[in-house]
Amino acid sequence: MNPTPSIHPPLMPSSGDAQRELEAMRKTVAVLTEALEQQQASGSAGGAFALFRQSAQLQTLVEEKTRALARMVEELGATQTQLVHAQKLEAVGQLAAGVAHEINTPLQYIGDNLQFLDKAFNRIVTLLDRVVEAAEECDPDEFAEVVQKAMKKARIDFVRKRVPRALEQSIEGVQNVSHIVAAMKAFSHPGGDEKQPTNLNRLLDTTRTVSRNEWKYVAELLLDLDNGLPPIEGLPSELNQVFLNLIVNAAHAISDRHGTSGEGKIVVRTRAEGDHAIVEIRDNGGGIPEEIRSRIFDPFFTTKEVGRGTGQGLAIARSIVVDKHGGEIEVDTVVGEGTTFRIKLPLSSPNESATESER
Ligand SMILES: Nc1ncnc2c1ncn2[C@@H]1O[C@H](COP(=O)(O)OP(=O)(O)OP(=O)(O)O)[C@@H](O)[C@H]1O
Ligand SMILES: [Mg+2]
Repeated sequence: MNPTPSIHPPLMPSSGDAQRELEAMRKTVAVLTEALEQQQASGSAGGAFALFRQSAQLQTLVEEKTRALARMVEELGATQTQLVHAQKLEAVGQLAAGVAHEINTPLQYIGDNLQFLDKAFNRIVTLLDRVVEAAEECDPDEFAEVVQKAMKKARIDFVRKRVPRALEQSIEGVQNVSHIVAAMKAFSHPGGDEKQPTNLNRLLDTTRTVSRNEWKYVAELLLDLDNGLPPIEGLPSELNQVFLNLIVNAAHAISDRHGTSGEGKIVVRTRAEGDHAIVEIRDNGGGIPEEIRSRIFDPFFTTKEVGRGTGQGLAIARSIVVDKHGGEIEVDTVVGEGTTFRIKLPLSSPNESATESER
């Protein structure tokens, strides 16, 4: 029996070689099969032995070609993985600057508050010392007046009013910082190649947090998440990358149309639909002109200037969604109104592990 080749055509640009190989193999098989059929039909010379020999040759050839193709597909897969990782590292590097900025603001007011609390504490201690002193030195008639004066000097009313607020704000700030740091940690986690139960809502929340600096000057970003969305079998690190690419694209489109006027809006929505999870990322940017729509998923197609985009975002997004998750990604866009990218991911992939082990 011939081994059945299980080959998934990769979507990256270098898949051309593998496709040409596959085509050449198909042709060879067709020619040999035709020759065999002719011999069979004419019952011609050599009879059964020639038939057997040709069939054996055919089988060897198919096996060789299959092995060569499998090697090529493996190499292509590795190249594709490297590309995805390289883009991810680049994105993480870029986000790091924004995240540092986001963390800096709460850290600054936490620092200011701690200085204020230090002063307040000193005033309270001084006041207490004065009260103890007065208790030892003063007459009972004098005591109340001395304490009153000391309290005024320590501006104790102000301290009482401001300390709780400073503490509350600092606790909030620390929570904020740890939320951002946890999100950055989750986002930059390398992930690995094994699929795992993945909560898409959580990924989107994380991506929103780490990318805030990329959109906050041009848009608000609303999450409209379906809390009942079941986990999918997926690669969280790579899906984060997809969502980031789409959010950054949305922010760019909005910035081009509205600048920092405050009219920008990005809505990220999740829903369960049958046995699929749907993620939609909608923006009210300028839309995608008809003449370039068919090319936006092409590797290295970009309309952005150098330094703002390299045209890899959507090609990588499609490769991750379609090749790695068996999902779909489509776009709905109206020039002058905005764009919605819609991703459809299977909730579970029961055949996945079987297919993997057959390879
Ligand atoms: N939401 C959107 N609104 C309008 N145009 C978009 C949107 N998303 C993508 N495009 C168009 O599709 C092109 C390709 O997008 P893609 O994300 O692949 O590359 P890029 O954003 O240009 O660069 P990179 O993602 O590598 O930084 C963009 O240059 C832009 O013209
Ligand atoms: Mg992009």
